[in-house]
Amino acid sequence: MDPKYDFLKKIDRESSNLIKGLQAVQALEGYVSDESILAIAEYFSIPSVEVEGVLSFYAQFKRIKPGKYKIAVCDGTACHIKGSTLIEEWVAQELHIKAGETDQRGHFSLERVACLGCCSLAPVFSINGRVYGKLDRKNTIKILKEYQSK
Ligand code: FES
Repeated sequence: MDPKYDFLKKIDRESSNLIKGLQAVQALEGYVSDESILAIAEYFSIPSVEVEGVLSFYAQFKRIKPGKYKIAVCDGTACHIKGSTLIEEWVAQELHIKAGETDQRGHFSLERVACLGCCSLAPVFSINGRVYGKLDRKNTIKILKEYQSK
């Protein structure tokens, strides 16, 4: 196993700890790569297809490498009522990616998330954790353009 996965050794090798292992990998890499799947399968002595099965079952795990800027469009109740679907659509059109994707140059990734805890600012999205609220088409595009040039 590649030494970069030595951190797994802090976790007991019991298969019941598989999720802990996957969470550790994701915390470190931001997603679970194909290479990580093989390392985890080797560490827990289980087939890689079993690891993939667990990954596909739990929505918390990401299989696509996140972009430099991670955009999380809130689709909680308050944001949904205030038009989060349109916000996501505008972001998708501007960046040519859909929720769950990263653009080709690895600059942006887009995801749809539950409440970001800023409902009074609905509709909102966050970029690398920074929250932007009271979004409309104009300010959404303006914010994205600022990040496109970074
Ligand atoms: S529903 Fe969007 S911040 Fe709460």
